[in-house]
Amino acid sequence: MAALTAALPSSPATAKLAASPSPSPASHFLSFPSRLRNASRVAVRTAQVSTAETAEPAAAAAAPVKEKKISKKQDEGVVTNKYRPKEPYVGRCLLNTRITGDNAPGETWHMVFSTEGEIPYREGQSIGVIADGEDKNGKPHKLRLYSIASSALGDFGDSKTVSLCVKRLVYTNDAGEVVKGVCSNFLCDLKPGAEVKITGPVGKEMLMPKDPNATIIMLGTGTGIAPFRSFLWKIFFEEHEDYKFNGLAWLFLGVPTSDTLLYKEEFEHMAKIGGDNFRLDFAVSREQTNAAGEKMYIQTRMAEYKEELWELLKKDNTYVYMCGLKGMEKGIDDIMVDLAAKDGIVWSDYKKQLKKAEQWNVEVY
Ligand SMILES: Cc1cc2nc3c(=O)[nH]c(=O)nc-3n(C[C@H](O)[C@H](O)[C@H](O)COP(=O)(O)OP(=O)(O)OC[C@H]3O[C@@H](n4cnc5c(N)ncnc54)[C@H](O)[C@@H]3O)c2cc1C
Ligand SMILES: NC(=O)c1ccc[n+]([C@@H]2O[C@H](COP(=O)([O-])OP(=O)(O)OC[C@H]3O[C@@H](n4cnc5c(N)ncnc54)[C@H](OP(=O)(O)O)[C@@H]3O)[C@@H](O)[C@H]2O)c1
Repeated sequence: MAALTAALPSSPATAKLAASPSPSPASHFLSFPSRLRNASRVAVRTAQVSTAETAEPAAAAAAPVKEKKISKKQDEGVVTNKYRPKEPYVGRCLLNTRITGDNAPGETWHMVFSTEGEIPYREGQSIGVIADGEDKNGKPHKLRLYSIASSALGDFGDSKTVSLCVKRLVYTNDAGEVVKGVCSNFLCDLKPGAEVKITGPVGKEMLMPKDPNATIIMLGTGTGIAPFRSFLWKIFFEEHEDYKFNGLAWLFLGVPTSDTLLYKEEFEHMAKIGGDNFRLDFAVSREQTNAAGEKMYIQTRMAEYKEELWELLKKDNTYVYMCGLKGMEKGIDDIMVDLAAKDGIVWSDYKKQLKKAEQWNVEVY
């Protein structure tokens, strides 16, 4: 039996969640104590980094063979596709709140839907949403996938809700017209009480490692933070008889501006209660640079710790998860190529081994 812990700011959070029908900015989403044990870790930094080389060494050692483990993907309890587009689950929006500030480039919303426990998802899975209305051919809209942003217990701790973190897609097309993405706008405009058609759950790539002593390195850009909020709630805000985390959870989050630091207060609260078990690093691309004056992307921040990250990656119980913008994958690979080469290892070979051992997990889009 799992429960929300006393450490979780559950009363203010839950009260706020349940009683907050109107949008409010990120900074007011959850009210946490302001004193942070690990405040220095999240401060703006511009440390010296070297540019990673992308070329792999010509003659390199074979990548070390990884230890065989119990696959998280074979876990019998993991449910997929319980609900399909023809017969979706119809939940209700319980809460929808904007979590980016007024000056943010674009809007991101956090929303909670009722499931009555009928969508038995795990941390790291996604759901599909079918927007109301029809497409230009008069057919129902196709589903869009969204990473689940809540732990399996859900934001209210009763296993009866599922939460998403959705960016409103608005762009100007070649003809100069403003186009609004179908499903993201449907979701961001949902009012409490409105119905929402849900499919799934789906996905096994981003399931959490079973080992409670694992090192979990989470690399998220923008709304790619969703599965990591889900992991971290389970790790730091809940109590589970069969899962007591005593490893290292290290979150890197890349966003454009400080107004878009999604769930910042929650993560800072985790840094306070997580002590040595949690590390938190932000990369704010339009406000920070490295010593070379380059934009602070997630891989730029990671490069500050590259030797340490490489040492961690040599361990059998280090698991890397990447979620968000497709472009981030290459930037992260570029750092790894250089590091692996120093040990005479071809990164692309080693990455294959890591993937096979479920230690390198990518869901980018
Ligand atoms: C596994 C997975 C998980 C996901 N999780 C999340 C999540 O947690 N949060 C989230 O917000 N999104 C997530 N997404 C993305 C989500 O599924 C939708 O693609 C997104 O919300 C846009 O859908 P839409 O219906 O609003 O846009 P649509 O109406 O489908 O429009 C999108 C289309 O618009 C066009 N387009 C988009 N931008 C531009 C541009 N700048 N210029 C020209 N054309 C453009 C492209 O053709 C694009 O395919 C995830 C995707 C996947 C695959
Ligand atoms: N599971 C999934 O597949 C999944 C889940 C959630 C979201 N998504 C997708 O992830 C994307 C996130 O979008 P968002 O709008 O939420 O993000 P966002 O707020 O725009 O943040 C993205 C951050 O990544 C930076 N960035 C841009 N190019 C990069 C690169 N090559 N390498 C590293 N960082 C880079 C951006 O910097 P600048 O803008 O300053 O250049 C920005 O700081 C969307 O496409 C969304 O649909 C996918």
